Amino acid sequence: MAKAETSRFIDVLNGEVASPPPVWLMRQAGRYLPEYRELRAKAGSFLDLCYNPELAAEVTLQPIRRFGFDAAILFSDILVIPQALGQKLWFVQGEGPRLEPVADAARLSEIDALADDDVLSPILETVARVRAALPSGTGFIGFCGAPWTVATYMVAGRGTPDQGPAKALFAADPALFQQIIDRIVEASIRYLSAQAAGGVDAVQIFDSWAGSLDAPDFQRWSVEPTRRIVEGVRAAHPNLKIIGFPRGAGRLIPDYVRQTRVDAVGLETDIDRAFAASEIQSLVPVQGHFDPQLLRSGGPELEREAEAILEAFAGRPFIFNLGHGILPDTPIAHVERLLKTVRG
Ligand code: CP3
Repeated sequence: MAKAETSRFIDVLNGEVASPPPVWLMRQAGRYLPEYRELRAKAGSFLDLCYNPELAAEVTLQPIRRFGFDAAILFSDILVIPQALGQKLWFVQGEGPRLEPVADAARLSEIDALADDDVLSPILETVARVRAALPSGTGFIGFCGAPWTVATYMVAGRGTPDQGPAKALFAADPALFQQIIDRIVEASIRYLSAQAAGGVDAVQIFDSWAGSLDAPDFQRWSVEPTRRIVEGVRAAHPNLKIIGFPRGAGRLIPDYVRQTRVDAVGLETDIDRAFAASEIQSLVPVQGHFDPQLLRSGGPELEREAEAILEAFAGRPFIFNLGHGILPDTPIAHVERLLKTVRG
């Protein structure tokens, strides 16, 4: 299939400076959109929506049609990898994901070393559908979760405030925890490579819980596995752009960038902007980091904060985004105001 003309989003990932910067929002397809809620009700459940290529492609495109974002992100979830590894996954309405926990060697032995292609094939069909339908000039982003973040859910069987169960496991049995990480690394290389073959321009590796690790544990459980994924995917897909998002890693981010060799990095809301501009953006293009709470609450602070971000990261490659996913009760009018401020 012919590749679409390059997008402003990809140009920036290639090191160009764009003014205004390209913009997309994490979780841009989601519950704050009435058209999403309608298709989700039609699909039945969140996971049914993820595994329905026709509806998932439509949901991926909804925010592009409504707002003209510079990039679309595949509609799926990071927890499809544990499911492809054979772990049961379901979502409890209003609470979040649940999995049958993997916290001992017996359970781990039931987890396959390689992802089951049958589980992931509908998602790859979504990739093909989106690629075919996406306007040229709009970037297309695939993704996976980073091994550390995915492992926190696999071990605890749910989201946890402090990632305590995963930390307890790597303290008590680092060899077992390493095996869990290794399986996620292998499956993620295969999965991201398949997304690249299907036509995504870039992938983002979401390490939502990177910030809960101290420096040595961050090195072992976040940096090193991410480095292996980047190396493995890049070997087969040298032109694919890879964005790392070690949320909460703060001052450890420059080292993360140098070691993992990601092409760009996402910044969390709380990062020190002066530090990010001088120590991170000098290495790679950065993406971020507007506060999702402020986008929800609005007020005059919305424009002021957006301007401050634009100013701090002007003159070097920058992609405007949030510092974490958009909140479900965010008014659409606030998203419109944000876009107007960013685009002038
Ligand atoms: O960004 C996008 O629009 C693409 C789709 C996407 C989703 N999840 C859809 C989703 C992406 C990139 C993710 C990543 C993801 N999933 C992460 C990493 C980023 C982050 O937010 O920290 C994590 C930790 C998950 C796991 C997950 N999925 C949780 C903890 C939850 C429940 C919390 C919640 O927001 O409901 C989900 C559900 C989920 N994933 C929804 C969406 C749109 C909401 C499902 C619904 O419609 O009810």
